[in-house]
Amino acid sequence: MTRVRITVTINGAVVERVVEPRMLLSDFIRHEARLTGTHVGCEHGVCGSCTVQVDGAAVRSCLLFAVQLDGREVRTVEALSAERDGALHPLQEAFHAAQGLQCGFCTPGFLMSVEPVLDHVEGMDDAQIRGLISGNLCRCTGYEGIVCAVREAARKG
Ligand code: FES
Ligand code: FES
Repeated sequence: MTRVRITVTINGAVVERVVEPRMLLSDFIRHEARLTGTHVGCEHGVCGSCTVQVDGAAVRSCLLFAVQLDGREVRTVEALSAERDGALHPLQEAFHAAQGLQCGFCTPGFLMSVEPVLDHVEGMDDAQIRGLISGNLCRCTGYEGIVCAVREAARKG
């Protein structure tokens, strides 16, 4: 298979690699850029654990090929604290305070799914918040802590 040279900006850093066209964006992020905060669970678009942001929107990186992001910008969970000189993002603080994680495998996906729409959460009831996070699966928490964390992060703005 003919390999392709691509350049992807991830969290502001340019990553240039020669890759196979079939390489998934999730694998590019983890194995080429060495950013392992993006987790891979189902690898077919169901669990949401691989969620990253492209152009400010949450996307599942296991459903994209890395070559589709050539010349584009990607933001991963590492950016949340890196943009704050290592301090936790308010959404991360809220997950910690509300016990919105146990094993933490799902957490990067939840954070990257919710963060772009956090400004729209205030005023939502719990059912609406559950709808908002319905694209992300957690096998540990029972979701109560996650819903609480999202609500509190939105309330604190
Ligand atoms: S690993 Fe991408 S949605 Fe599950
Ligand atoms: S905290 Fe373990 S899968 Fe969500």
